[in-house]
Amino acid sequence: MATIQFLGHSAFYVEGSGIKALLDPFLTGNPQASEGPDARAALDYIFVTHAHGDHLGDTVAIAQRTGATVVATNELAIYLSGKGLKTVGLHIGGRTKMPFGEVKLTPAFHGSSIFEEGRMVYSDTPCGFLLEIDGKKLYHSGDTGLTVEMSLLEAEGIDVALAPIGGYYTMDVRDAVRAVGFIKPKKVVPMHYDTFPSIEAEPSEFKRLLDGKVDVVILKPGEKMSF
Ligand code: NI
Ligand code: MN
Repeated sequence: MATIQFLGHSAFYVEGSGIKALLDPFLTGNPQASEGPDARAALDYIFVTHAHGDHLGDTVAIAQRTGATVVATNELAIYLSGKGLKTVGLHIGGRTKMPFGEVKLTPAFHGSSIFEEGRMVYSDTPCGFLLEIDGKKLYHSGDTGLTVEMSLLEAEGIDVALAPIGGYYTMDVRDAVRAVGFIKPKKVVPMHYDTFPSIEAEPSEFKRLLDGKVDVVILKPGEKMSF
C-alpha cells in the first residue's frame, strides 16, 4: 500500500515500498505549504513536472541536502545536473523501470521556464508523471490544459489522479471534470487551486459534478490518503 500526502498547491509526498519521494516541492513561498523544505530527512526521489517556480520550487536545496535523485524531462534534468544533482532525464511517452516500480512521462500542454540571473531561460516541454508504486498507478498531471491525449491514460488503469482545477494557467473545474472522463481513474484529488487569487476554485463543485462517477478526494494541505 502506498500513501500520498498533499503539501499544498501541486506538491505531494509519496511513500511506498522502496520509495520516499516529493512531487513538485514548492514549499518556500507557498502560502498553502503544510511543511517546510527541511521537513524530510530521507528522500529517494523528487519528481519535477516543469521548471516554473511553483513546481521546481525547493528541488535544488532539498536534493542537495538529502541526495535524492531528481526525475524530470531530459533538458531540465541536464540543467539540474549542472547544479550538482543526481538526475534521471526521460522524455514524453517514455517509460522505465525504477527500483520501486515504474515511471512514465506523460504530455502536459503548458510552458516551462527558469529565471536565472534576472533572465528568463526556456527550459523544456513540461510533463506529467505516471508512477507505479506497490502495483498501484498514481498520475500527477503537472500543469496542463485539457487535452485529448488524456484519453490514452484510460488504458493504464489509474488508481489515483492528481488534477489541477484552478484555471487561468491550467484546467479549471469544468475542464478537469472532462479530463476525469478521459482518464477514468478510481480516485481523483484536485490540486493547483486557491494558492493565488488568480486560481481560486471550488473543489466542492468539482466533487459535485463528478458525484456517482468517480471518488473525488479533497485533501487539505497536510492530509494523507492511502491507495
Ligand atoms: Ni506552470
Ligand atoms: Mn503551476
